[in-house]
Amino acid sequence: MGKRTIILAAVCVALMFAAGPIYAATAVDDVIKMENKAYKEHEKGIVTFSHKKHNEEYKVGCGECHHDDKGKPLNDLKMGDDVKNCIECHKTPGKMPGSVKKDLKANKASKKEIKAKELEYHAEALHENCISCHKDYNKKNKTKAAPQACTKCHPKKKK
Ligand code: HEC
Ligand code: HEC
Ligand code: HEC
Ligand code: HEC
Repeated sequence: MGKRTIILAAVCVALMFAAGPIYAATAVDDVIKMENKAYKEHEKGIVTFSHKKHNEEYKVGCGECHHDDKGKPLNDLKMGDDVKNCIECHKTPGKMPGSVKKDLKANKASKKEIKAKELEYHAEALHENCISCHKDYNKKNKTKAAPQACTKCHPKKKK
């Protein structure tokens, strides 16, 4: 091993450290198993979400799904940006229990207030995002290609 190899190795290591803070990117798989770690247990089968395909083949822009802390669409998002997971803001795992809705109604909460409360629940936010687009798309294109039914997204759970 020559002196040059050692210098080269040292340069490589230095570069790796230098690159660290620049790449504060959030990694994302092309296909995501939607099994959020915030859940103790998933009641339903795990949804397979084709993240890359949605963007590239179905031509869905980042801002259709990702937004900032005010709910404003992040239309200029790029791969390599720092991206927050939905659960960081839609914090409570699962759907909103019926009892919560009943209490809100008993306290004369407005539709808007109920909706805002609902969005605190992760599964409600996800369903609203995924299913509302699928519904519109199917209706507009007279197709069933975008899944709307529970079992089309959540496969039957293996016992
Ligand atoms: C159809 C909806 C949709 C579109 C379009 C979309 N994303 Fe996502 N993306 C998601 C969802 C949902 C998650 C969270 C997945 C999870 O819970 O693991 C996610 C996760 C990510 C993550 C990982 C963050 C994390 O939680 O670890 C990155 C990075 C990302 N997206 C970037 C992008 C970029 C850049 C674009 C546009 C080029 C884009 N996404 C388009 C829905 C979408
Ligand atoms: C940084 C915090 C934050 C993150 C991360 C986040 N949201 Fe939101 N989300 C919000 C806020 C704030 C609103 C607006 C609530 C309102 O208008 O009352 C919102 C609204 C929504 C709505 C309702 C939109 C409407 O038009 O009614 C849906 C659906 C939603 N988010 C889904 C998601 C999904 C899916 C993800 C992950 C891909 C995500 N959110 C990530 C903060 C966030
Ligand atoms: C803004 C529109 C939009 C949003 C948001 C969206 N989708 Fe889709 N999705 C589509 C379209 C369009 C298709 C494909 C229709 C076709 O095949 O022609 C599709 C197809 C699918 C399919 C079947 C084909 C495949 O690629 O696996 C699954 C599963 C799916 N979506 C899951 C999701 C999930 C989960 C979310 C939420 C995290 C989501 N989608 C959000 C538009 C959307
Ligand atoms: C377009 C796809 C899609 C459809 C259709 C759909 N879901 Fe979901 N659902 C999701 C995604 C994505 C999550 C988030 C899971 C995660 O990230 O961990 C979720 C989460 C859930 C959760 C919380 C997680 C768990 O397993 O306990 C429940 C419960 C649930 N869905 C029930 C339903 C029911 C009931 C229906 C039919 C009325 C339905 N879903 C339809 C995509 C879908």
